[in-house]
Amino acid sequence: QLVKVFVTRRIPQEGLKVLSQSGICHVQLWDSDEPVPQAELLKGVSGARGLLCLLSDKIDQEVLDAAGPDLKVISTLSVGFDHLAIEDIRNRGIRVGYTPDVLTDATAELTVALLLATARRIPEAVAEVKNGGWSTWKPLWMCGYGLSGSTVGVIGLGRIGLAIAKRLKPFGVKRLLYWGRTPKPEASEVEGEFVPLDALLGESDFVVVSCALTPETQQLCSKDFFGKMKKTAVFVNSSRGAVVNQEDLYEALSSGQIAAAGLDVTTPEPLPPDHPLLKLKNCVILPHIGSATYSTRGIMSVLAANNLLAGLMGGKMPSELVL
Ligand code: GLV
Ligand code: GLV
Repeated sequence: QLVKVFVTRRIPQEGLKVLSQSGICHVQLWDSDEPVPQAELLKGVSGARGLLCLLSDKIDQEVLDAAGPDLKVISTLSVGFDHLAIEDIRNRGIRVGYTPDVLTDATAELTVALLLATARRIPEAVAEVKNGGWSTWKPLWMCGYGLSGSTVGVIGLGRIGLAIAKRLKPFGVKRLLYWGRTPKPEASEVEGEFVPLDALLGESDFVVVSCALTPETQQLCSKDFFGKMKKTAVFVNSSRGAVVNQEDLYEALSSGQIAAAGLDVTTPEPLPPDHPLLKLKNCVILPHIGSATYSTRGIMSVLAANNLLAGLMGGKMPSELVL
């Protein structure tokens, strides 16, 4: 008797193959690159033993009710899990798998690329080449900020934050500050200094946000936060959009309170193309592509599939979210 699993989106073939060849489940797939409509999600989870979802699927009370008591495991194709109603899920005895570690390198690379693109104004410069704004080599034109000799502040020195710090250090970063709930022993690998948030904001030339979205970090980056940053500082966020108050960020960028911002995450996602932040030259916005390399997404899909299968069989998951 094969158990039902519902997969909320077209995912890399490797992961689907793991599921279909397992011999223990039949897969119902929302076979599209677009999000599953809520009604289809509710139908899909009904009677399912397992759910493989994405960070864009809100798994809340309504979905859990629609699934009913058969649902035993939720596997998300992400390291973040703020889209899951964890309390309710735990109360129902449902196990959760996620995909840490395998996306750390890709996400750290993208964050470094975004930081450099923002600090050195690369999208703006590319646009000038195309629109005829490049008239000659100009000593005062298109200047930005460099990492060499700088102070970098990382908010949330977790797996990804540390990987970002390790990549930034060789650019000649002079001091590496970090802030979070607790000091991290592994910070010694980057000579990281644990400092109060105010000190980090006041001293950093680059402020990089790499913390999980939790009630404590929701809207952490707001008026007060940007107000403590240097006017020449660059802000980068590749964690979750809701860590930032975007109206306050807009104000800080348009008033010159801070120099520039690079965002791989926004609220909402997608950001509407007419959003005010997109009109600012000193704001670089990417469409949440931190983990988007071919190989990383393939590996994530296999890990998510193996988490799901292990959960279905009551075994040890390769990456179980233990809270
Ligand atoms: C991406 O944002 C993830 O959580 O994997
Ligand atoms: C957070 O997702 C981390 O792994 O740093």
